[in-house]
Amino acid sequence: MATLFDPLTLRGLTIRNRMFLPPMCTYSCKDQDGVPNDWHLVHYGSRAVGGFGLITAEATGVTPDGRITPYDCGLWNDTQRDAWKRVVDFVHEYGAAISVQLNHAGRKGSSADKAATVPESEGGWKTMAPSAIAFPGYDTPREMTKDDIASVTKAFADAAKRAVAAGFDAVELHAAHGYLLFEFLSPLTNQRTDEYGGDFDGRSRFLIEVVDAVRAVLPDTMPLMVRISATEWLDDGWSVRESVQLATLLKEHGVDMMDVSSGGNVPAQIDTQPGYQVWLARHVGRSGMPVIAVGLITSPKQAARIMGEGNLDALAIGRAALRRPYWPLWAGYKLDKQPEDMPYPQAYQRGAFVPKQKQDSEGK
Ligand SMILES: Cc1cc2nc3c(=O)[nH]c(=O)nc-3n(C[C@H](O)[C@H](O)[C@H](O)COP(=O)(O)O)c2cc1C
Repeated sequence: MATLFDPLTLRGLTIRNRMFLPPMCTYSCKDQDGVPNDWHLVHYGSRAVGGFGLITAEATGVTPDGRITPYDCGLWNDTQRDAWKRVVDFVHEYGAAISVQLNHAGRKGSSADKAATVPESEGGWKTMAPSAIAFPGYDTPREMTKDDIASVTKAFADAAKRAVAAGFDAVELHAAHGYLLFEFLSPLTNQRTDEYGGDFDGRSRFLIEVVDAVRAVLPDTMPLMVRISATEWLDDGWSVRESVQLATLLKEHGVDMMDVSSGGNVPAQIDTQPGYQVWLARHVGRSGMPVIAVGLITSPKQAARIMGEGNLDALAIGRAALRRPYWPLWAGYKLDKQPEDMPYPQAYQRGAFVPKQKQDSEGK
């Protein structure tokens, strides 16, 4: 059974360990141009120095109106591609792999801190979605035409091409949390009567078309990942059973790993206990799809126990890694790894966490 410290190979990519940084928006493109800047270099660079295996860069718009907020990163132009390359090169220098989460925000786009649509006068835009149903507090989106669907599919593929050119090691599609791809999956937000709505096959069609378009532009050696909300925590929403069914289908379409989250499409009561989504990842993994578990995994001992219980391929550490960018190096110390077995950069070796016995003898 794999531990947190074992490498993981997906297609042609070997990731140095199974401690992943999940995608987390930092809303830090101050100029509203989607171009990653020094903030992103320092933020992701620190987590590479901190020992993460795979870093997935935050939700990145495939079009300007695919952003969640005007401050999101993008990959719809070559300036953004070149700026990402600087971040990617730095992360590689410190041994981590890096993927990018490609996103279209759908009806939850053009938002800001106040959970309301930003007016166009302040850099906002009109939103679109599978059906003209508003997220509470936001403007009502317009229903997408088939041309819209085709054009967003192409935008995902074009952004994926730029991700390859920027040197990313993998691409993750954001089909979770109530953004556009998930809005199509859920019967609560997809009430279309054409072939993109209705039963499981209809609601999954758009995601599968995006997967096929993106897979077609990625080298065979490059992994493709998909993040889903495995449940909406509501009886009439997208279900765990459908998530397992989707994982089987995605595997057939060349997806290599799923990142298993939950909720976010419609308001719901979620009991956020430590590790509250781990069971969902295990369920999805029953399809044979490699899975990442995420959600309130905060301490090294908890993470080691969860991995030790099996049927998971990697864990993602989100908010705990905002507080502690060197979480993996710290986990090595807490879980009795020798400093020389951890990926300290040369410049920091004299400051490595030292195991307790050694510390005592060196302290004298
Ligand atoms: C500040 C912040 C930004 C986030 N942005 C994204 C995002 O861009 N894409 C995404 O799929 N999830 C996003 N999430 C969810 C995280 O990836 C993660 O799934 C969630 O925080 C649960 O993990 P944790 O308890 O380890 O933080 C975000 C979470 C936080 C706290």
